[in-house]
Amino acid sequence: MDLIEAKNISHAYRGQKVLNKISFNLKEGSWTALIGPNGSGKTTLIKILLGLLPLQSGRLTFWKQEHFKELGYQEQKITPPRLMPLTAFEVVKMGLLSIKKSPKIFNKEDIKNVLQMMRTTNCFQYRNKLFTELSGGQQQRVLLARTLVNKPKLIILDEPTTALDSTSRDSFFELLAKLNKEQNTTILLITHDIAEIGKYASDFMVLDKELIFSGSKEEFCSSKAVANYFGSYTQHIMDHLHSEDSCPFPEHNHTHAPREVK
Ligand SMILES: Nc1ncnc2c1ncn2[C@@H]1O[C@H](COP(=O)(O)OP(=O)(O)OP(=O)(O)O)[C@@H](O)[C@H]1O
Ligand SMILES: [Mg+2]
Repeated sequence: MDLIEAKNISHAYRGQKVLNKISFNLKEGSWTALIGPNGSGKTTLIKILLGLLPLQSGRLTFWKQEHFKELGYQEQKITPPRLMPLTAFEVVKMGLLSIKKSPKIFNKEDIKNVLQMMRTTNCFQYRNKLFTELSGGQQQRVLLARTLVNKPKLIILDEPTTALDSTSRDSFFELLAKLNKEQNTTILLITHDIAEIGKYASDFMVLDKELIFSGSKEEFCSSKAVANYFGSYTQHIMDHLHSEDSCPFPEHNHTHAPREVK
């Protein structure tokens, strides 16, 4: 079943077009990797989905409203609350506000959940430190705990692992995989790390102002549009299709650098 149906979404900043007629469906329970080079419109597209940017043209249909009430969003840019210095614990606790009814009083169960999630995402040890005084990777773990603490049914993550070391990144992906499998949580994840995400994602979207591709991992691997777009890099990907590893992607992490289109 589709959660989101997007039809012909276009967007321009001050007359400059950055998205052109994007159409896709997001399936419930899927893990979709949204990939594309810098400036290709990925963040813009998800901000439109989230209602953080206005829908200038096209149509968006949300089939299950409850998923948008229980939504986790981790944005790309970390904006530390400078004026109101918060501890890591308080930042994670803020993640519960969206599901709290007024008055927003936290009970024992809430506090237990916050601490539990901080243990799971491995940031419990600096729960009493100021968020602004944590390293980039530590902040990213705290923000992940904040995103997941209210057990969202739909998680939208914009490059959430850029500051994580490889061990933290592995456990981060394993945690998402568990939520995806066991709770049927739908995941939309923007990443440049195609090698890593190839092990987890069920679906792919390739964006470069236009939607180059949208479909399952299997379709991605056999798509002519993908082959044309990635050029010689595609061969590199496909070479791994028949390797012992079930993942069709190279072992090593790398940032893909697609050729210019248009
Ligand atoms: N607030 C803004 N005002 C004007 N132009 C913007 C604004 N935000 C983004 N853009 C432009 O829109 C284009 C798409 O930006 P966007 O942030 O969506 O790309 P992205 O795919 O997320 O890139 P990255 O991988 O670097 O995060 C870029 O050319 C960018 O300069
Ligand atoms: Mg972005």
